[in-house]
Amino acid sequence: MRSRRKRNLDGQLALYGDLLTVWEPEEKNWERALEIPAYVSLPELFGAFDALELEIGCGRGAFLCELARRNPEKAFLGVDVNKNVLVEACKKARNARLSNIRFWNCAAELLPRYLPPNSVSKIYLNFSCPFPKAPYAKRRLTHPRFLESYTRFCVPGAPICQRTDNRSFFDYSLEQYAACGYETKAVTFDLHDKTPENHIMTEYESKFVSLGLPICYAEARVPARKEEAL
Ligand SMILES: C[S@@+](CC[C@H](N)C(=O)[O-])C[C@H]1O[C@@H](n2cnc3c(N)ncnc32)[C@H](O)[C@@H]1O
Repeated sequence: MRSRRKRNLDGQLALYGDLLTVWEPEEKNWERALEIPAYVSLPELFGAFDALELEIGCGRGAFLCELARRNPEKAFLGVDVNKNVLVEACKKARNARLSNIRFWNCAAELLPRYLPPNSVSKIYLNFSCPFPKAPYAKRRLTHPRFLESYTRFCVPGAPICQRTDNRSFFDYSLEQYAACGYETKAVTFDLHDKTPENHIMTEYESKFVSLGLPICYAEARVPARKEEAL
């Protein structure tokens, strides 16, 4: 369901200009937009940092803000198509005085346009929309077109950490990882059977766990890009 636009959304977004970038390429055809890279200078965005971690579909940002608080030496980027939730994410980062986190209002499809090659060392896919109907399968963030696009900006071997309550989406994702040359490890169909140490819950995860639903988890390693592997 599409969420209603917040009142004075643009005014609220303007309060967070230092934390938030809205990406709306002039070229509305995404395939053509992707042919024209507009790589961001990550040192300009974050200053010095050890490694960049990315959450795609970060929602209200609770998970990523807590991760950034615990790991001040790393940089964290939260991406979401929904401006309403990003305002909440920015508010959290500002209140916690985090200097190592930024948010992008951007469709995942466009990330290879902005993220330089070999720039991302980990991706989190937390409770990504499962798009259960077959005609929308291309929108799943583990569809082969996304798995190919992650190889464009991830360091080879970077883990994709996926959590979901949706078993059929998870099974689909495992199949796509294998088909696209991603190695998977730490696969579990009930992450909270023995909750990992120092685990940070996401907003959706808290809801599902409180309902007693099992959470599936996997780590899939991004393979080297084909031309690099030759
Ligand atoms: C179910 S919410 C999960 C939020 C958060 N990760 C959590 O676990 O609490 C999924 C989020 O993904 C975002 N999203 C869906 N498709 C996207 C895309 N193609 N690019 C960027 N964000 C997307 C939605 O706007 C939504 O905020």
